[in-house]
Amino acid sequence: MSEPVRFVCSGQVVTVGRDVPHTMTVLDYLRRQLRRTGTKEGCAEGDCGACTVVIGELSDGGGLRYRAVNACILFVHQLDGKALFTVEDLAEGEKLHPVQQAMVDAHGSQCGFCTPGFVMSLFAYFHQHAAPDDDSLKDALAGNLCRCTGYRPILEAGRRMFELAQDDRFSRAEAALAAQLAGLKRSRMLRHSTAAGEFIAPGSIAELAEVLAGRPQGETWILAGGTDVGLWVTKQRRSPRSIVYLGRVAELQRIADHGDRIEIGAGVTYKDAFAAIQALHPEFARMLRRLGSEQIRNSGTLGGNVANGSPIGDSMPAMIALGATVQLRSRSGSRSLALEDFYLGYRKTALQAGEFVESVTVMKPKTDSRFAVYKLSKRFDQDISAVLGAFHVILDGGQVAGARIGFGGMAAVPARARKTEAALLGRRLAEAEIAPAVAALAEDFQPLSDMRASSTYRLLAAQNLLRKFCAEVNEGRRIGVEAAQ
Ligand code: FAD
Ligand code: FES
Ligand code: FES
Repeated sequence: MSEPVRFVCSGQVVTVGRDVPHTMTVLDYLRRQLRRTGTKEGCAEGDCGACTVVIGELSDGGGLRYRAVNACILFVHQLDGKALFTVEDLAEGEKLHPVQQAMVDAHGSQCGFCTPGFVMSLFAYFHQHAAPDDDSLKDALAGNLCRCTGYRPILEAGRRMFELAQDDRFSRAEAALAAQLAGLKRSRMLRHSTAAGEFIAPGSIAELAEVLAGRPQGETWILAGGTDVGLWVTKQRRSPRSIVYLGRVAELQRIADHGDRIEIGAGVTYKDAFAAIQALHPEFARMLRRLGSEQIRNSGTLGGNVANGSPIGDSMPAMIALGATVQLRSRSGSRSLALEDFYLGYRKTALQAGEFVESVTVMKPKTDSRFAVYKLSKRFDQDISAVLGAFHVILDGGQVAGARIGFGGMAAVPARARKTEAALLGRRLAEAEIAPAVAALAEDFQPLSDMRASSTYRLLAAQNLLRKFCAEVNEGRRIGVEAAQ
């Protein structure tokens, strides 16, 4: 039986019509069905932030959690049980919200096309922070592009909104909204069908395994954050028969501490994974800060990054270097693989029909280990890597007793540099001693030339990253541009 999808918008419960296709984005739903046209479409691929809206969800503590997301690559069915805030919600009659007033005061808008997106990113920031700080404010706005105003006045607005107010009517009405959302909690699986296809959201891992069993892979798409899948719809105009959404499977949203390792559920967003990894591997977290934008990190998941298996995906080389394993599950049981063995060829993984990624397990650091990860891309924020290198060595009396090196952008899959690792064993990390390892990178990889970088650039950059890592370990400090970040 088809179930209605329900979410809260402007204090009202919105019921998504039974005829709304399973691939309709929140942006299209807002503009075409609800006629709320304040939210704009720029790129329809998660890059420009013009479509930014804010989602409110019940947090574990019972309060509300605000997340800025890209409406253009979010399906409306993903809103089930959540609250949606759009730019139309903010002003109270003629009285602007502090975020809007600050934008006016700081002259933060010219043509205005990007403005609703900036306002919503700032609205989320306002609810997440007690006071502004420049780094986090820049991070929060890095997924919003403005072509005419320039960022200085917009950043100024981000600071000024806290001078205008410390809270707003949304904070004051939070308990009532939380109660409203609690009332929308569903006990059964969500299944919304139309002639075009179906959207299924299992409520447990057992239900998920059952739903996926026996389904043809091409006709059924697993959906986590949608930061890849959304683009298959908006850019490639594809539409599967069924979408199976992971967002309601509580077991996939957990982070478990197993003493010497942490296990991150496949449905954990980058943002939440970042928080967990920060204390263990700050270098890894520093790189995750550069993955996509705030909106992408609020939606995209570590499990989706791993399962998508892009050769230029950012998290996998780092996790390969840290000796991560991936847990796979299906109705017939579970299995575990070293992450590097999960990748069989270009976008080809070991996942079998009916199987899904349950979690990824990452080892905690050892006292004698050194780890670093470097992302090379043309822009600092919101850019895909040309090369990403992750280096992890165990030292014994200054000599390398163990090495794991992961690279992205160097092969058809995220891969280990096994010959380079072998060439490092027993060596000190001095320039003269690492020369064979630097040379071995050319045996490990024959990278492609493409629009991001040439083969020659990639190989040389990879070799220089190895040199940089060794120099940083020797000197006990970061070297180069990244030292300031
Ligand atoms: P989805 O889009 O939901 O799914 C991705 C794929 O994985 C699909 O094939 C899906 O079926 C499958 N899948 C998802 N979860 C599972 C599971 N548990 N089991 C089995 N299969 C599963 N990536 C980077 O690495 N670095 C970047 O800097 C970066 N920047 C980006 C910027 C933008 C603007 C956008 C749109 C994307 C960017 N990406 C980047 C890519 C994207 O964010 C990642 O690949 C993301 O991790 C995918 O996760 P998701 O949860 O959104 O996956
Ligand atoms: Fe550009 Fe959504 S329209 S990010
Ligand atoms: Fe014109 Fe930002 S005000 S794009």
